Amino acid sequence: SRPRIDLVVEQTFTNLSAADVVVDERSAFAEHVLIGLSEQPRRLSSRYFYDARGSALFEEIMTLPEYYPTRTEAAILKAHAAEMFAHLDAPSINLVDLGAGNAAKTAIVLDALAALGVSVRYVPIDISEAAIAGCVSGVGARFPQLQIQGIVAEYGVGLNWLANHTDRPTVVLFLGSNIGNFDVPRAKGFLRRLWSGLNAGDHVLIGFDLKKEIDILLDAYNDAAGVTASFNLNLLHRINTELGGHFPLDRWRHFATYNVVSGAMESFLVAMERQSVRIDELDLVFEFRAWEAIHTEFSYKYLLSDITHLAEATHFRIARTDGDDRGWFATSLWQV
Ligand code: AVI
Repeated sequence: SRPRIDLVVEQTFTNLSAADVVVDERSAFAEHVLIGLSEQPRRLSSRYFYDARGSALFEEIMTLPEYYPTRTEAAILKAHAAEMFAHLDAPSINLVDLGAGNAAKTAIVLDALAALGVSVRYVPIDISEAAIAGCVSGVGARFPQLQIQGIVAEYGVGLNWLANHTDRPTVVLFLGSNIGNFDVPRAKGFLRRLWSGLNAGDHVLIGFDLKKEIDILLDAYNDAAGVTASFNLNLLHRINTELGGHFPLDRWRHFATYNVVSGAMESFLVAMERQSVRIDELDLVFEFRAWEAIHTEFSYKYLLSDITHLAEATHFRIARTDGDDRGWFATSLWQV
């Protein structure tokens, strides 16, 4: 029988454990794999890195010596979060956290807001159910007074949520260089939709990884311990376990390179020999030539002038941009 692709169910939950949440993503994943592996060049989206295993591997990446973005951004927030929000002038806000992950950096923002006496309705949104469950319980334990509503969904659902919660000012966090995983037209499209979903005076705080010496970038995505390789290969592991795929994982390798023209780190999975790979759920066999690649991730890097251009093109006003001494990362606070 032909494989059936059902609709994806988005779920919202408040202060629940992972066991209470059922999100059926499998059909969307099957459809994505069918389309992406049928294209030339083949491609799969980094969106599908983040199952429970992929999210755990990303947590590990964030602590690697080569992966500087997380700790650099955290240091910028520690140094400047209080000043960033000093002028908010609101007794209570919505704090919408797009791609919240483990919310370690959000805790720095929440500390600053607590010190300013701002009461917060915290809304973390992430495609990883495990990440949201961990985030909701972790942040809830650390900030017991906080009202928390976790949402397991793509960012777009966050925009819908905003439309229904205009009772107080909103600050949207889009940290961790998550914006870099969009190519520039998609980043613009997303930010324009975000702008139109917000009210005048609302803010967005965006974390941008900056263009820098290429070797530093290459090392960050080719760590010596091989965690980034496992993270990338997890996509094939996911196809094997969730869709009955038969990828021989030891015959594929991770490859990450910097595209100097587009300004993006790009990741690939490369077949180390010719292979025929069956995916049971799709009832198809895919033929790969030796050294054929599947594109899996963009991580765009920005210049400060690119940030200005992006804000202008999406109608935001830049309130302030803060960086580290080395000029490796910037957080930019934008206002509608
Ligand atoms: C989540 N995202 C911003 C990370 C990045 O740097 O693009 C994911 C990642 N990929 C490889 N290492 C980390």
